[in-house]
Amino acid sequence: MDDLRQKYLSAIAEAADEEALEAIRLAAVGKKGEVALKMRELGRMTPEERRQVGPKLNALKDEINAALAAKKAALADAALDERLRGEWLDVTLPARPRPRGSVHPISQVTEEVAAIFADMGFAVAEGPQIETDWYNFDALNIPPHHPARQEFDTFYMHRDAGDERPPHVLRTHTSPVQIRAMEQTGAPIRVIAPGRVYRSDYDQTHTPMFHQVEGLAIDRDISMANLKWVLEEFCRAFFEVESVELRFRASHFPFTEPSAEVDLRCSWQGGQLKVGEGDDWMEILGSGMVHPKVLQAAGVDPDAWQGFAFGLGIDRIAMLKYGIPDLRAFFDSDLRWLRHYGFGALRVPSLHGGLSG
Ligand code: DAH
Repeated sequence: MDDLRQKYLSAIAEAADEEALEAIRLAAVGKKGEVALKMRELGRMTPEERRQVGPKLNALKDEINAALAAKKAALADAALDERLRGEWLDVTLPARPRPRGSVHPISQVTEEVAAIFADMGFAVAEGPQIETDWYNFDALNIPPHHPARQEFDTFYMHRDAGDERPPHVLRTHTSPVQIRAMEQTGAPIRVIAPGRVYRSDYDQTHTPMFHQVEGLAIDRDISMANLKWVLEEFCRAFFEVESVELRFRASHFPFTEPSAEVDLRCSWQGGQLKVGEGDDWMEILGSGMVHPKVLQAAGVDPDAWQGFAFGLGIDRIAMLKYGIPDLRAFFDSDLRWLRHYGFGALRVPSLHGGLSG
């Protein structure tokens, strides 16, 4: 009996899984198992022997059953542990890998400009980059032989001989979006229109594609004073300084009357630009009161409505604000440059959360 006990208890201890355990149970305490066979031998014993051996056999059977149950529970525990280890999840890990790209300064500055003007009630309007010459020129009071057409270094789209469609150009400025926006919503209207523009020009401060943002505010009583306040407010917010000083210089644009170019007081010290102080002036935009002919071309009655418009170079103010010396680098797609001048991909510029940092 001791041999049986030894044999089965150690077999149970070594069983690797439930299947092995069941085989041991059948061999030991099953109906035809070794313990059952021993029990059958009791019949051939004297009553005296039977009284001694019977309880011992029963005890052995109980002991083996208990060992089987304990081992079964231990195997189940181990299986659960194994599964939990396999399904373990570190909930403190970031949900997504950190973004590796960065936001281009042009995109950043466009977002900043949109955030500032949104706060003053300007919606964002868009127009096509391939424009008809009517929207790009005629509707803006630049008739076919007007000298301003030459000044723009326009890219004309190819036309086959006999093509009757209106001539198309790559838009030379964002001003045509003024016309499209007024056609769509009429007056009153307050929009800005950021986007790409094209001119055949290339040096350290000119690239054939660059970016402008157009501004347009039309209502019954909008004046130059409103224009001045809006632009000052914009410059203060954009350059993130307490105060700015603007200088309005009389100028000429076919689409505004009167027209003004606007300079910003600044200083250059050791190559570092400071806005709002110093003895230098930096030209930053063109502006004026929208010409009655322009309102008319867009279907707005110039006797009932008036307002201002302006056009601002995005690349230029990006270079100024972030100290970027060469315009051409904007469009080289050099990763080292992008890592240096780029912005965090998850930061969204806003007036309350901060524009640039
Ligand atoms: N469209 C002009 C340019 O590209 C800029 C400009 C000047 C826009 C005066 C305006 C404006 O809306 O009023 O040079």
